[in-house]
Amino acid sequence: MTANDSQKPVTKAVIPAAGLGTRFLPATKASPKEMLPVVDRPAIQYVVQEAVSAGLDDILMITGRSKRALEDHFDRIPDLEASLKEQGKDALLESVQQATALGELHYLRQGDPKGLGHAVLRAKTHVGDNPFAVLLGDDLIDEKEDLLERMITAQEATGGSVVALMEVPQEQISAYGCAAVEAVEGEEYVKVTGMVEKPKPEEAPSNLAIIGRYVLHPHVFDVLENTPPGRGDEIQLTDALETLGQGSGEGEGVYGVVFNGRRFDTGDKLSYLKANVILAAERDDLGPGLRSWLKEFVQTLPEG
Ligand code: UTP
Repeated sequence: MTANDSQKPVTKAVIPAAGLGTRFLPATKASPKEMLPVVDRPAIQYVVQEAVSAGLDDILMITGRSKRALEDHFDRIPDLEASLKEQGKDALLESVQQATALGELHYLRQGDPKGLGHAVLRAKTHVGDNPFAVLLGDDLIDEKEDLLERMITAQEATGGSVVALMEVPQEQISAYGCAAVEAVEGEEYVKVTGMVEKPKPEEAPSNLAIIGRYVLHPHVFDVLENTPPGRGDEIQLTDALETLGQGSGEGEGVYGVVFNGRRFDTGDKLSYLKANVILAAERDDLGPGLRSWLKEFVQTLPEG
């Protein structure tokens, strides 16, 4: 499929952040996993920043039971700002204001967390008839990467929907949606010929995992409306994309951009810990102290 004249630019982003976060209990008992700090900012702030850096200035967050903390984080706190200003704590003031300067944020509750597909479907009215990006609120892509920009370019070129793919060890594929792909001559993106949510390693069509970035054609909403609950009794975005990928009409077809940069799943305890250590070790303020302590600490670790 090729892009046609009806192709509209991608300006909107949807950030689903309404999942239950059971993998991170008990920390997520009363607050959303997206609010867990990575170094000194909640994970969600990196994700919103990524969307804004890719030129998406209209952001809809799909929230759940702990909506309050997410909304508060991106809101102004005049008392705190005044107090920091009075005390001359300019760096802290700037860090507080960073989150509020990120552009236009909208919020919508999912209601029942009936799956990622259901969360995305909730965005239908807000998104309208435009292609849009979806960024999972617990998935961190290194800020030096241009994955989202590459995906937007692929969406504009194909007029279809685009997923982000990452090679993972075969034994880990059952934690992800998995895609079968074929090359598209002369293009950086690939055609996705099949998708399956969390397959057993021996049944997986490849070792390409679908990670938490999508750029979707609005036709996905029609498909989601007719997608029955699948794995885990949840409405799966992967199932809707599998249907979309089988068609060849306008707005159909699914493509993949393969990513081999740095990504952290902050909803997973080990990946979350690694994100904190790696990102802090690279910081100018915390890096020197952390790196020298880490070197000493590593010497004390037992083998294995
Ligand atoms: P996950 O697959 O990580 O599920 O969701 P989860 O419920 O959040 O976490 P675990 O597996 O129980 O630990 C992937 C993304 O989809 C969102 C989540 O917030 C996360 O960003 N999501 C998932 C929703 O917004 N609503 C849902 O019903 C399910």
